[in-house]
Amino acid sequence: MAVSSATAGLHTACHALGIRAGDRVWTSPNSFVASANCALYCDGAVDFVDIDPRSYNISVSELERKLCTAAERKALPKALIAVHFAGQPCDMRELAAVVRPYGIGIIEDATHALGATYQGEPVGSCRYSDAAVFSFHAIKSITTGEGGMVVTNRENIARNARRFRSHGITPDTSRAEPWRYEQRELGYNYRMTDIQAALGASQLNKLDEFIARRTEIAKRYTAGLAELPLQLPHIGDDTTSAWHLYPIQIMTDDRAGTRRNLYFELLQHGFRSQVHYIPVHTQPFYRALGFRAGDFPAAESYYEGALSLPLFVDLADSDQDRVMEIIRSTLTQR
Ligand SMILES: Cc1ncc(COP(=O)(O)O)c(C=O)c1O
Repeated sequence: MAVSSATAGLHTACHALGIRAGDRVWTSPNSFVASANCALYCDGAVDFVDIDPRSYNISVSELERKLCTAAERKALPKALIAVHFAGQPCDMRELAAVVRPYGIGIIEDATHALGATYQGEPVGSCRYSDAAVFSFHAIKSITTGEGGMVVTNRENIARNARRFRSHGITPDTSRAEPWRYEQRELGYNYRMTDIQAALGASQLNKLDEFIARRTEIAKRYTAGLAELPLQLPHIGDDTTSAWHLYPIQIMTDDRAGTRRNLYFELLQHGFRSQVHYIPVHTQPFYRALGFRAGDFPAAESYYEGALSLPLFVDLADSDQDRVMEIIRSTLTQR
């Protein structure tokens, strides 16, 4: 189901999985706010599961621990939103093995991961989930300007998502009154325009080429930065990344200070880096809901030293070499 954005898609997926007032939804604190906001749009209650310090995705052991406690308190979530951070797929088989026995739904926030594979299948196959959501925002694997897609293998989720993205209306198939349509519930206009879809169809033809180039850039970073005090991205077993981001983690003593210097040093030379992500629970809006700094230490510690390096299809090798030189000189000055 093509939709107007991944944010709309996540809202649609939550609704289609039956998230309603008071239902709990868990997600990763190391994500864009949309991964959590979507549950609140359904009047659900959000909580987070801390990340694995190596993959930066939800920690399966932490998830297991938190589910045990939640089961004792009869406070289990209705759905888990697993974010494939930076384009690196979560270990979905392990994650599903932990979650499924409790009857909890799984939505993949695959906004970073179009073009990634897990166990030889494209992310979006939904082998271990109920639905997955892609983004076609300008900086994603492919773009429609703004746009997204909900994919699922479950007919009832597809039917519900189609209705929800279009005002909660279903066409009536009655022959006697072919003009009839029925609004069955409150929905939205979350449809993608035909113009965006035409761009998306054309972009989709270039997906493999785009991912190949992103992979090449990532490999150059991995080779060029190997000797520095950095934690470079980890690639999970039997996965390929879509390389939406190349997140490095600075491992010097003063990580936050070094990150700041490096950010401004790159900027001064015309290279914009970015930090992904300020942990969602530390945002003022989420603090007002009761979350505190210290709640999810692995995500907070990662954030302190995190920097995403320039990575886009048109990045010239010479520019990338310059970025790596700046990183090398900034880190070895200290
Ligand atoms: C992890 C994550 N989830 C959801 C979204 C929302 O995507 P969109 O901008 O298509 O609404 C983004 C956007 O950057 C994202 O990074």
